[in-house]
Amino acid sequence: VIDIRSLYAKTGMFTYDPGFTSTAACDSSITYIDGDKGELMYRGYPIEQLADKSNYLEVCYLLLYGELPNAWQLNDFKDRVTRHTMVHEQIHYFYRGFRRDAHPMAIVCGVVGAMAAFYHDSIDISDADQREIASIRMIAKIPTIVAMAYKYSVGQPFVYPRNDLDYSSNFLRMCFSVPAEEYVVNPVIARAMDLIFTLHADHEQNASTSTVRLAGSSDANPFACIAAGVACLWGPAHGGANEAALNMLREIGTVDRIPEFIAKAKDKNSGVRLMGFGHRVYKNYDPRAKVMQETAKEVLALMGVENNPTLQVAQELEKIALSDPYFIERKLYPNVDFYSGIILDAIGFPTSMFTAIFALSRTVGWIAQWKEMIADPQKKIGRPRQLYDGAVTRDYEPLIERE
Ligand code: ACO
Repeated sequence: VIDIRSLYAKTGMFTYDPGFTSTAACDSSITYIDGDKGELMYRGYPIEQLADKSNYLEVCYLLLYGELPNAWQLNDFKDRVTRHTMVHEQIHYFYRGFRRDAHPMAIVCGVVGAMAAFYHDSIDISDADQREIASIRMIAKIPTIVAMAYKYSVGQPFVYPRNDLDYSSNFLRMCFSVPAEEYVVNPVIARAMDLIFTLHADHEQNASTSTVRLAGSSDANPFACIAAGVACLWGPAHGGANEAALNMLREIGTVDRIPEFIAKAKDKNSGVRLMGFGHRVYKNYDPRAKVMQETAKEVLALMGVENNPTLQVAQELEKIALSDPYFIERKLYPNVDFYSGIILDAIGFPTSMFTAIFALSRTVGWIAQWKEMIADPQKKIGRPRQLYDGAVTRDYEPLIERE
């Protein structure tokens, strides 16, 4: 009998790092996080400054091309994005094949992957022009794709994009307009939407971005890679946490029930965690959560629901958790998802749309990371190693001899 484990001695050394907690798979110049300080920067610009002074399309340009655009570059970029907001008319039939109660993430994942079947002039990844047009197409069409998933789920007709509107207003209108009544976009809501997009735009090598890179490392086409990212983002430990966080806040319901819930979250046997709390990299307050908290207050004030019970529960839960030794010792702070759900709910989105909106926002980050990887002269197909701990070599037994 040969112990297969001994073979590792002959195949050289490798690190064993489940969850990649201390292994870098690439070098990147797009996003920087200092988890201990709670800092996040896109191309060197602090997220707080971008949230305050910039807007999503400008941030998209920054992430894709590395520098803030001048006025001409920004106009040209907006023009290119705006001219690609429509999806192929035949894509509408894809939607009709789904059940009406399908989760929007299932639909978005399928439709994004299917784009490779429609845009044949942007799937040759060896051609820089094709990579560029694929990037613009993805950023331009993802709001249309996500809005259509929403419209389909509520049984309303699809709304075509309107190119005189800015990126977030156009998305809101495609979601909430109906033939009988045009949705008038409130600038405060449009700004809140734009902020949500900006704050989620990139976050270095998280699970979905790493998935996009791994898929792309085999030279798969960009639409297939982004569909892989959407699939990964769907999980409740990742992008699905915003939906889970709002559901949790609603389940708690009232401030007096918080201690009981916190006790459950601390009990490892309960299977309960504080959703929207904790982060693999941030061991301090997630800087995006701070911006989200402020925006949540603004949006709720606009809606005339400052005393919204969900926001009250969220704020009190945060206060109690941040003074509890369990959360202090483990450096568990609210993450971006803790407050984003409250804003999206106030805007009128059902919880099932939250992760799809996250996917919309993150598309530019996935694309920027994918482009960076393709252009890297050191690019190799991703192929993690494993530590085999299964059976040692044994001989096949005919069925009749098995007990
Ligand atoms: N509630 C209660 N306890 C928690 C939580 C939480 N939300 N998060 C972590 N812990 C505890 C763990 O039980 C563990 O305790 P132990 O040391 O006594 O065993 C310790 O904190 C470390 O947790 P890990 O799971 O090892 O941390 P990891 O870095 O692997 O996980 C994660 C990070 C997945 C985000 C985790 O904190 C979590 O599940 N949070 C809730 C889900 C969530 O909000 N996800 C969104 C992430 S942000 C994003 O994707 C945009």
